[in-house]
Amino acid sequence: MAILNIVTIPNPILKQVSLPVEKIDSDVKKLISDMRETMLSSNHCVGIAAVQVGVLARIVLVDVSLNPKPHHNSGLLVMINPKITYTSGKLKSREGCLSVPDFTGNVVRKNKIEVEYTDINGNKQLFKTHGFESITIQHEIDHLDGFLFLDKVSSLKTDVFKRI
Ligand code: NI
Repeated sequence: MAILNIVTIPNPILKQVSLPVEKIDSDVKKLISDMRETMLSSNHCVGIAAVQVGVLARIVLVDVSLNPKPHHNSGLLVMINPKITYTSGKLKSREGCLSVPDFTGNVVRKNKIEVEYTDINGNKQLFKTHGFESITIQHEIDHLDGFLFLDKVSSLKTDVFKRI
């Protein structure tokens, strides 16, 4: 395993659309294990998308149990080719991102979601969640489509905050 370098703004790769994973081979499994180690090496990191380590593949890892506050959580989720198929409700929260190290922002997202994805064994999964785990998954899937939380705040003037 290896800790990978995190791509940060304004690197243009963060605006690119990631490509579907066709085959879960040893390279994909190694990438996932390196992404996991990279997540664990960053304090309070609860999610990572492959593009954030410079790979344009539709893979995200989410683990909100790593947040110090208690949340509804399912432990480590490895989602390959994830797609949100249902949403309901709204939830506003303060988001951060490894790729935007100097800022946080208020973002309104969906509360409940259903996500279809392929797991690391190649099995199709339908997953339902809500709250912090849901918004973390939405944040990570946004990365796969070239969006950062900065693209989702309602105002860059009033909803973005410099980290102290
Ligand atoms: Ni992010």
